[in-house]
Amino acid sequence: MSLSIQPCTVTEHDAARALAAHLSLSAEFGPLATSEGWFDMTSDPYAAPELAWIAILDGQPAGFCHGLVLPQTDGGRWSVLRLGVAMPWRRRGIATALLAAATEGLRRREGDRRCEEMIAAWAPNEAAAGFAASHGFMHARWFWNMQRPATPCPAPAVVDGIAIRTFDGSEQGLAHWTDVYLRSFADHYHFVPSTIDVSRALAARPGFRADGLALAYRNGSCVGFCRNILTGETGEVAMLGVAPEARGLGLGRALLRWGVRWLEGEGAAPIELRVDGENETALALYRAEGFEPSRTRELWSRPLLRD
Ligand SMILES: CC(C)(COP(=O)(O)OP(=O)(O)OC[C@H]1O[C@@H](n2cnc3c(N)ncnc32)[C@H](O)[C@@H]1OP(=O)(O)O)[C@@H](O)C(=O)NCCC(=O)NCCS
Repeated sequence: MSLSIQPCTVTEHDAARALAAHLSLSAEFGPLATSEGWFDMTSDPYAAPELAWIAILDGQPAGFCHGLVLPQTDGGRWSVLRLGVAMPWRRRGIATALLAAATEGLRRREGDRRCEEMIAAWAPNEAAAGFAASHGFMHARWFWNMQRPATPCPAPAVVDGIAIRTFDGSEQGLAHWTDVYLRSFADHYHFVPSTIDVSRALAARPGFRADGLALAYRNGSCVGFCRNILTGETGEVAMLGVAPEARGLGLGRALLRWGVRWLEGEGAAPIELRVDGENETALALYRAEGFEPSRTRELWSRPLLRD
């Protein structure tokens, strides 16, 4: 058996995408098999070429990995690696070799900076859990995918003194969106501090819909937002945040309904969202608005290993 682990550059993207579509990997990587999903992953502002590898076994693509490296507020980083080996070639150490290449890439990239490595999989997944344990990863978190039945969503209630407007594409709008995101998510698990440049890059990505982003204003100050994403038929309330000073007024519910109704208007089905399984406040709101867990995703973590 001849195994070679090579950087997964643009030349190898078609081969890696074909692997993502392999019957044994599509449950984990389904959306990546589409050109849209693959582009989304590889063009993410946090995508790290140092984590992108393809495994060639006896001349054939057998597995791949790809990952993001994200900043933390304390200057550290966390990375999340997506890794898959097609069924005929499992239990031959291929994922182990891909992980070793990605870890080495991360060490080169990050030097002495504090960094955490994460891997993730939809549950149940015995192979991923066994793989994680065998490489010293510990359970870190559950994330829930929640879906809403296809019943019409009630209109958002008017929240006193608050106006919900769609994003107008202006620099001022970008600044408001960035600021309200930072303030809404500051105390969240693995909060990723953003900048106006990141927001600008997101707004410039193909498929971004300015009218799918709502900003909520009180006395000229932006105090909440909701951003929707359409991927094929699927509609996602991708991010919903209310600034601390505007919580408890019903704004989260109003923005969620705004998001669901926008997605309904676009004909999306299913309508879903993803939430940290320990975010009780958000879970309670989503449940109260008819969302039910459809799948759970497990995340495992280890500190970046250094020699
Ligand atoms: C998880 C996955 C990447 C492992 O790939 P692989 O190339 O078979 O893994 P390796 O051969 O390097 O396995 C290394 C160790 O992981 C553990 N492991 C791997 N598969 C396992 C399984 N099915 N059950 C229990 N433990 C398993 C074992 O300890 C194994 O060592 P061993 O074979 O000496 O016992 C592969 O099963 C896969 O692609 N699954 C679908 C995609 C996925 O779940 N991705 C998320 C990964 S976190």
